[in-house]
Amino acid sequence: MKDSIIKLLEQNLAETYTQELNIQKCHWNVEGARFHALHVMFEGQYKVLFEYVDVLAERIRALEAYAPGSFDEFTKLSDIQQIKEKTLDADTMIHRLLDGYKILVQNLGKTAELASKSGDRETEDMMVGQIETHQKNMWMLRSMLSTKGH
Ligand SMILES: [Fe+2]
Repeated sequence: MKDSIIKLLEQNLAETYTQELNIQKCHWNVEGARFHALHVMFEGQYKVLFEYVDVLAERIRALEAYAPGSFDEFTKLSDIQQIKEKTLDADTMIHRLLDGYKILVQNLGKTAELASKSGDRETEDMMVGQIETHQKNMWMLRSMLSTKGH
């Protein structure tokens, strides 16, 4: 059970890191009328993800495993794809980031469920807190789309 939790945490770490980098890329390259609002919002979000990367890695260590920490490992572990285009229009950026958050939240949820089943309340709590933050960030991203009702 513990090994399966660690495996999921490794994926959570890789996906949080990938999402963080994707948001940072959007922060740097966003253009258009919403530049300032999006630039600032992306910054707020990637900073939180940066903190979560550390929290997840240190949880893996607390469970007596070693934390992955290279781009190669992260690429293998993450279901979230890196944004490889030079740049994207603002709405496409938002949609891509929403797709990433969806995967991230889904897999954090798997960890929470398994942790709950195995009585690891600390991991479960950690996942629930992170999911809550990501869902709030998703709402903010959706609200920045130029066409509403998605
Ligand atoms: Fe910046």
